[in-house]
Amino acid sequence: MIEEIKNLRKEIAGTEITNEETLEAFRLKFLSRKGLIQTMFARMSEVPQEERASVGKAMNEVKQQAEDKFRKGKDSLTQATATQLRATDDITLPVAPAYAGSLHPLTQTVNEMKDIFFRLGFDVAYGPEIEDDFHNFTALNFPPDHPARDMQDTFFVQKSGKENAEDLVMRTHTSPVQIRLMKETTPPIRSIIPGRVFRNEAVTAKSYFQFNQMEGLFVDEKVTMGELIETLVMFAKMMYGEHVKYRVRPSFFPFTEPSIEMDVWWGSDFDGQWLEILGAGMVDPNVFKAVDLDPEKYTGYAFGMGVDRIAMLRYGIDDIRILYENDIRFLNQFTG
Ligand code: DAH
Repeated sequence: MIEEIKNLRKEIAGTEITNEETLEAFRLKFLSRKGLIQTMFARMSEVPQEERASVGKAMNEVKQQAEDKFRKGKDSLTQATATQLRATDDITLPVAPAYAGSLHPLTQTVNEMKDIFFRLGFDVAYGPEIEDDFHNFTALNFPPDHPARDMQDTFFVQKSGKENAEDLVMRTHTSPVQIRLMKETTPPIRSIIPGRVFRNEAVTAKSYFQFNQMEGLFVDEKVTMGELIETLVMFAKMMYGEHVKYRVRPSFFPFTEPSIEMDVWWGSDFDGQWLEILGAGMVDPNVFKAVDLDPEKYTGYAFGMGVDRIAMLRYGIDDIRILYENDIRFLNQFTG
């Protein structure tokens, strides 16, 4: 019987497994219940007692050999099948789109506005978001307890209790950076100042507790109101196109005299409305005095633009809140 087992081992070793059929034939011949190995096991009773141990051992080895060979053959066939499947994939099909990030619509709008003003000869400046009372109000000609302070509902960071003197506030506009620029540099000054501002206002579709402004300041000798309006009209045309419908109205701000506001028409000719996009005016002599510039020598204009408004007009957005919610379904519309 040892001899038979040796022959069986040779036969197993010599059998080739190349595909599903030969694999199944191998299983049937050697490993199935009626296969050669089980048949030999069934004959163990014929083996004389003293040989049983060695025959049993040899039988177990041959069984192991057949099982190993079967498993290896099966594994290599599955791998081959997998490779074959991949090879049949259509590699000319377009790949699934990868999602790329994009700049926020407000950032895109600020970038566009900056480009326009760079072309008009402005540079860019920045200031702090927490301001003291002097820069945010007093130097801009809002005297203590002046009702104009109520125009801007203020978030206070620190209240001194001393006639607004040392109050710290979240800046309510970008205008305080005008004061910083005029104190730090000598004219000519021709800068824009983009930035975030804060107001203690009820949140609605039209107002939010934070928003973005872009301040502009031009100070030199003999700056005129005509230049201001020309610059604003040029801006509107570069931003919204040559045919933009705009109007300029008189207004009031403590830090400019005279003061104006500019509106842009939103909607169709028959169904639309005027939307205010900026306030502006000639720098008030009191402001020059607050920063130690001679109002007899210098004149200047300033403007403050609502970046959110401008973005909403640009993209047809009618609720300011959506600009701050970071909803990916909204943001995905501003790629590319
Ligand atoms: N600071 C004003 C506001 O937040 C906007 C403004 C109006 C800025 C007129 C200016 C200006 O520089 O000249 O309502």
